[in-house]
Parts: sequence; C-alpha cells; structure tokens
Amino acid sequence: MHLRTASLLAAAGASLTGAESHHARQATAPTGTEAWAAAHSKAAAALSKLSQNDKVNIVTGVGWDKGPCVGNTARINAINYPQLCLQDGPLGIRFGTGVNAFTPGIQAGSTWDVELIRQRGQYIAAEAKGCGVHVLLGPAPGALGKIPNAGRNWEGFGADPYLQGVAAAVTIEAIQSQGVQAAVKHYIANEQERNRETMSSNVDDRTLHELYLWPFADSVHANVASVMCSYNKVNGTWACENDKIMNGILKTELGFPGYVVSDWNAQHSTNAAAINGLDMTMPGSDFNGRNVLWGSALNQAVSSNQVPKARLDDMVKRILAAWYLLKQDSSYPGINLKANVQSNHKENIRAVARDGIVLLKNSGILPLSKPKKIALIGSAAVVNPKGRNACVDRGCNDGALGMGWGSGTVEYPYFVAPYDAINERARSDGTTVSLQSSDSTSGVSNVVSGADVAIVIITANSGEGYITVQGAAGDRQNLDPWHNGNQLVQAVAQASQNVIVVVHSTGPIVLETIQALPNVKAIVWAGLPSQENGNALVDILYGVVSPNGKLPYTIGKSQSDYGTSVVTGNDDFREGLYVDYRHFDSKNIAPRYEFGFGLSYTNFTYSDITIDSTAKSGAATGKTIPGGREDLFEAIATVTASITNSGGVEGAEVAQLYISLPSSAPAAPPKQLRGFDKIKLKPGAKGTVTFNLRRKDLSYWDVRVQNWVVPAGSFGVSVGASSRDIRLTGTIAAA
Ligand SMILES: *[C@@H]1O[C@H](CO)[C@@H](O)[C@H](O)[C@H]1NC(C)=O
Ligand SMILES: *[C@@H]1O[C@H](CO)[C@@H](O)[C@H](O)[C@H]1NC(C)=O
Repeated sequence: MHLRTASLLAAAGASLTGAESHHARQATAPTGTEAWAAAHSKAAAALSKLSQNDKVNIVTGVGWDKGPCVGNTARINAINYPQLCLQDGPLGIRFGTGVNAFTPGIQAGSTWDVELIRQRGQYIAAEAKGCGVHVLLGPAPGALGKIPNAGRNWEGFGADPYLQGVAAAVTIEAIQSQGVQAAVKHYIANEQERNRETMSSNVDDRTLHELYLWPFADSVHANVASVMCSYNKVNGTWACENDKIMNGILKTELGFPGYVVSDWNAQHSTNAAAINGLDMTMPGSDFNGRNVLWGSALNQAVSSNQVPKARLDDMVKRILAAWYLLKQDSSYPGINLKANVQSNHKENIRAVARDGIVLLKNSGILPLSKPKKIALIGSAAVVNPKGRNACVDRGCNDGALGMGWGSGTVEYPYFVAPYDAINERARSDGTTVSLQSSDSTSGVSNVVSGADVAIVIITANSGEGYITVQGAAGDRQNLDPWHNGNQLVQAVAQASQNVIVVVHSTGPIVLETIQALPNVKAIVWAGLPSQENGNALVDILYGVVSPNGKLPYTIGKSQSDYGTSVVTGNDDFREGLYVDYRHFDSKNIAPRYEFGFGLSYTNFTYSDITIDSTAKSGAATGKTIPGGREDLFEAIATVTASITNSGGVEGAEVAQLYISLPSSAPAAPPKQLRGFDKIKLKPGAKGTVTFNLRRKDLSYWDVRVQNWVVPAGSFGVSVGASSRDIRLTGTIAAA
C-alpha cells in the first residue's frame, strides 16, 4: 500500500471519534468538522451493506451519454442510494428547460457584493435541487485568471486569490445550504484552454499555495462536498493521478473530508488514479463510450490487491459522507431537467448584472436624462438574429453577449438585449432611437445624424476549447475587441461628439484606441450580464442605480504589459506570485484601469482608519480542520474606516484593503488584496466599513517549514477605492 494513503486512512478514523465525542458535549449546531464526522460515521455504517461491485458502481460513472445528467452513477438498492446526478455548472443548470441563465462568476466577482453572491448561489442551487441535481459542478475559482485572454477566466470571480476565495466560499455555503453538493473546480493550475489536456503546469510550491490553492482552501473550509481535478498535469503528473496534489495537499494539508471527482475524461489510469487520491471518475468512459478505466478494471485491481480494498472503501466513504452531509438521503427530488424552477430568481440576475457593471470613464455625459434622440450601434445591441440559443453551448459571438461559451453555460429562457431595454425606456421618455444592428462602419453617419448621444456596443468573447469561434479555440487570440470594434467606435466618434462605449467582454481588452478619441465621453464596462443584459445596462445608463461595480482584473495598455500569455508547451509559471496587479505594481507598469477600479455618479470620502491587532509572528500551530490549520481562519486583526457619500446621489462603494508584508518576509508583491467591504450610502451619509484579517491573510507560505508564517515586523495596511487609489494607510506590527 502507498504510504501516504495508509496514514490518510488512519487520520480519517482518528478525527472521526475525536470530533464525535466533542459533539456529544456540545448543544450548539455542529461545526464543519463535527458535521463531517457524523456524515462519515453514517457512511462507514452504510459501507458494511455494500458488495465490492456496489462500491465500484458508486465511484464509476455509468458512461458518457448514458443517463439523464452529464454525470451519473448507478442506483444502489442496498442503501437506498439514488442514481446520482452531476450537472454543469457554475451559472445554472445546463440543458435545463425551465431554468434561469444566471450571471457568470466574473460578473458576480465584479459586484464585490457578498450578499448578492450568496443569493446567486442560493438561487442556482434551488433550481438545481428542483431539477433533482445532486451535485452542481461549480463554482470555478481555478482558473485564477493569470493569463488575461485565457478562455475560461469568466467562469471564476476575478484575477485575485482572495476575491476568488471569498466568492467561492460564499457560493459553496449558499449552494450547500439548499442541500445541493457543490463541486469546486478545476483543481489545479488549469490556466488556459490551449493544450489543456496534454500540458503540464509546473508551479513552485509558494506560488501554488499563495495563488492557486488559496481559493480551494477557502472552499474546503466552507465544507465543499467535492473537488474536481483538472485536465492538465502538475509538475509532469496528471492532476487526477497526482499524489502530492490530491493526497498530500488537498486531503492531508487541507484536511478535505469529501471526494475528488475527475473532470470529464481527465482520468488516465486505473491504479495510479485510485492510489493517488481520485475518488470518483466521470463520466465513467471516454466520450465514445469506451476506455472504461474503473468499473470492472477497478474491481479486478482491488480483487488482485493492486489497489487496496481500504482505498476503495475510502473513496466510497467520502462520496457517501458528502451525500449524508447534505442530507440527500432524506426525500431528495427526482431527476427532471425539465422542471420549471425559475421562481423570482431573475431579480438576482438583474441585480448582479447591474451591480457588476463598472463605469470606467464619464466626462459628465452619464447618467442620461431624457435625450431627444439616441443612436444605438453594433451587432451586440440586439439578440442573435438566428435565435438566442442558436449556438450550441453559446459557441458563437453573434448578437448581444451574456456569457462565454462551453460546458459551463445554460440556455437562455429569454434575453433582454440592449436595444430591447433602451427602446422601452426611450418610449416612456419620448426619446427616438435609431438603430444599426451591424458592425459596419459605412452606414454609421446616417444612424448617428441628429442624435444627442451615440451608444456603441462592442464585445470580446472566449470559452472552452472544444468549440472554436472565429479562430478562437477557447482562449482569445488577442486583447482586441471582436468584429473590428475599434474601427466601429472610431467611425461613431467621427460622426458624434457624444459617444458612449459599452463593452461586453469575458475579460480585459486593450482600450487605448478608444481611449484616445476625445468624442468618447463615457466607457461602460458591462461585463457578462446574461439574460438581463439590457435591463442592467439601462439601470446604469439612466442612473436608476449609481454604478457600483469594480474591476475584478486589470485593464492594461497592452497585452505584453501582463507578463503572461497562453503557452504552447508546458507552462513553468515563471511569473510566480506576480500576476495581474501584483505584476503591474511590482514592475511599475501603469495600467489603463487598475484592479479594483470603478467610478460612480457620486463621490466617497474615506476617513478615520482604526486598526486593532493581536498579530504575533510565527507559524500556524492549530490542528487541521477542513481548509487547513484551524488558527489560519481566526481573525487576528480588524481594520475599520469611515466612508462618507460626499456627492449628490445614493451610491455604493467597494472599499478595499491591501496588505504589504514586512521586509522580514521573502520578496512579495507590493500590495495584496486581503479585505473588501461594500457599503451603500445616501448622499451625505457616513458609514463604517470593516475588514477582518485572518491569520492566513497576514501569512506567507514558508516552503522550508511547509507552513503558513506571519512574518515579524510592520505590515503596511492600505485602504482605498482601488488597488492604486489608496485613501488611508496604517500599519500592523507583529512582534
Ligand atoms: C513542483 O515542482 C516545484 C519545483 O521543484 C516544487 O516547488 C513544487 O513543490 C512541486 N509541486 C508539486 C505539486 O509537485
Ligand atoms: C466629485 O468630486 C469631484 C472632485 O472633487 C468633483 O469635481 C465632482 O463634481 C464630484 N462629483 C459629484 C457627483 O459630487
């Protein structure tokens, strides 16, 4: 037997009894550890009723396209275990016909609004449960987004581990509060689409911990039921058969009590995958229904002792424990992807779509106030003329953009395009709208003629690598707008002095051409708003709500400024800790719009920073709970600040806290996000934002002692309106 497997099994048994006796003494609701321990003991009891064949069937999908969901396992009568349904994805129920298409993760991240993110997760899960989906394949905080044009960044919450960690944890809590298992993905270092199924991500230990593992640790701490291992290799070994990644880091260091499920067809071996920590294989075959690596092959491997029986039992216990943890053993709805489960959930979609919009530039042209005539230009102003769901898995860029493409998409139940919503608003204002629903530059002057404002809508799109759209095989080919967006804006700016540029995009684009046009009076970064696209835009353009989103990534002046790009062979992650703003800051590169930036229709002033700290230098010492050492999650400092709305209208501000490590720490990015708080204020009103810093937030990963360490000395504390607009500073001293 593999050594680490043996100690893992022993550890699981030991923590089980310890936590149970603790539970008996406590009348309060069980903590994560206790709830998992109770679930694991139910799973252990169920195990004795199962044949080896039953066990193999619990860990092996039934094969591609052989059941109602994208992933299915067989019913097990001995314990009344249902046909398990695993379904994409992070923004709603793929292939559901009575569901909503929620906003992509990146739009949720762009709101920086924990309550909206929570509600989003809750509503998605309510729809999942209504459809009988046991395991929802999301959230997706890995990709972290180190490469600005990488195809699937938009499925996650932004190019920062802290933002990803908070949003993923809140989403998981919300999903699981509805009784649905979350499967956080893709573990780990799956940062591009190109060659994702052959390449190796070679990541040094510190970078892995401080960037890529970070959101997964927060996810495990939020008691995520399942972790999906990714397609790529890590240091030359497939993620789904990587002992260090699964047994070492995830199950031992992070104390993950749930199960690892493979990405679809990401398994490459029978024995190595089993021994090195994979617990469930999906879909159970390749996409031709062949090459079944577990199933009867695993049965034989266990019978001939090539895979220890105890390892198979451990897989089953982990899977059943997650099922018991979520109480799916009592009256879970039957599988029905046609169920009508939409309820009032579109309210959250509109709110996230709206509050995720970032106002980048405004020379007084916004908000609109009953203009006499609006010109609206661009193919993205209207719904795809072939139909809102004409492209399989949203794999095209025709018409208004609501999400990227790939397996993490949902069919739109309806789609409100910019034109639909602007036209409706115009009718009530007595405004004329002239529309050009193409990207042709030649007719622009006619459409714009006589208009007080010209709104031009441009896009950039990306997705999952199995679909190629206009030459983009998942990853974008560059950071330019699609459909000659720069030329279209230039043409509009030649015909109008009052141009508003609206961008719908999966990630940053280079705005320099547009920025250079004096007639471009406003730039509205409208992100990926899904089905409520137009309604959200109108809310912002007309000042129904003051813009309150902030950029979840940096918009650089050129692609090369990012210092990372899609690679052809393996990726050695040479940039280390220096991704997105960490790179721009350390190299002193001025971005066009920095991480965390966003304007509003009002002004906020910052004052009265207070800092309370019990921080002491040294390594974490707590026992391991889900997510890592227990003391990593304890608050050791609290920072507060007053925010005053000093402008003329109600608005909301996302105040951000960045930490600079003391000089005793090994070299680190100048500033790292370690807190944010969003506060809504009426004009003239003053409120307090609060940042609770956990031990983890003040630690770096020490590769020598293999632990998180709070360095001695003075930490810089920066509180501001963005990563570069710092309004208040202070220090925390760790003796
Ligand atoms: C990958 O290799 C690097 C460089 O040797 C090392 O620092 C890191 O710990 C390795 N990670 C894994 C998961 O094997
Ligand atoms: C915000 O402050 C700036 C500079 O102090 C000022 O020019 C602007 O008019 C203010 N905006 C609002 C909406 O109060």
